Amino acid sequence: MPDAPTIPANAPRISPYREQLVSGRFAGRTVVITGAGSGIGLATTLRVADEGGQVIAVDLSEQNLTQLITAHPELALVPVVCDITTPDGIDKIVTAAGGEVYGLVNCAGLMDNFSPVGEVSDAEFSRIMDVNVWGTLRTTRALIGLMAEHGGSIVNVGSMASLGGGAGGVAYTASKHAVVGITKSTAVMYASQNIRCNAVAPGAVITPIAKNITSQHGGQVLGPILAATMPSLARAESVAATITFLLSDDSANTTGAIVTSDGGWSAL
Ligand SMILES: NC(=O)c1ccc[n+]([C@@H]2O[C@H](COP(=O)([O-])OP(=O)(O)OC[C@H]3O[C@@H](n4cnc5c(N)ncnc54)[C@H](O)[C@@H]3O)[C@@H](O)[C@H]2O)c1
Repeated sequence: MPDAPTIPANAPRISPYREQLVSGRFAGRTVVITGAGSGIGLATTLRVADEGGQVIAVDLSEQNLTQLITAHPELALVPVVCDITTPDGIDKIVTAAGGEVYGLVNCAGLMDNFSPVGEVSDAEFSRIMDVNVWGTLRTTRALIGLMAEHGGSIVNVGSMASLGGGAGGVAYTASKHAVVGITKSTAVMYASQNIRCNAVAPGAVITPIAKNITSQHGGQVLGPILAATMPSLARAESVAATITFLLSDDSANTTGAIVTSDGGWSAL
């Protein structure tokens, strides 16, 4: 499994959560999860598979996927090592899905270095948009036809940076706002085919995604804001619980929603 991040001594409290499985909630259903090798995607993969689903577990990291499969031989996990920013990677996912998909969780994502618009390089902006936006778009485009016969549920992973400008640099913020647009458009366009599409907007989650804030300007502006407002840290399992709610029939009447899973951060 990926290295657990170190939690600083002065970090906010960790939200309490005890996972309670819903037996058989995803029985007979195939769910594609990108970013399945680490953090929120890994926790979601285990939750869906523990509740009876078959998971097409997609990640760049062969090592993390191998560890996942080795640690859980009892679960229905199909590993797909690929890069979701490449056509070849998307083809591999479609082939592994094998014709019928019920659910998709677009979780693979990258954080930026907190650069503001006056500093961000073309390369940094493109790198973040490639994974967070193009990866989400291309994966969904390739799989939505496999849901059209019977309906399905798509969950995109947004962020506090989907809702405001104070949680990341310009690249991350723009990418996570774009995820909201993809979510709402998909919800409207496919409602008549019983395909729902929602986004989760997590707050701060204990995963290895955190980047060094290499932008001095970004750090000076956002550091104090984050320190003053972040109410809590969450474990990945807490966010996986929100994602699996949105993925499951428990949220049958919910589509086009941006659901926070942030310990109340966005309510401030
Ligand atoms: N951790 C947080 O505090 C937090 C907060 C809000 C939103 N999010 C979002 O949650 C999602 C998951 O983040 P996480 O914190 O679990 O991070 P993570 O780094 O633990 O996991 C991300 C996974 O995505 C995979 N990935 C990256 N690029 C890929 C690509 N091109 N193709 C295939 N796989 C790729 C990585 O290998 C990694 O396993 C991201 O979209 C992130 O923006 C995280």
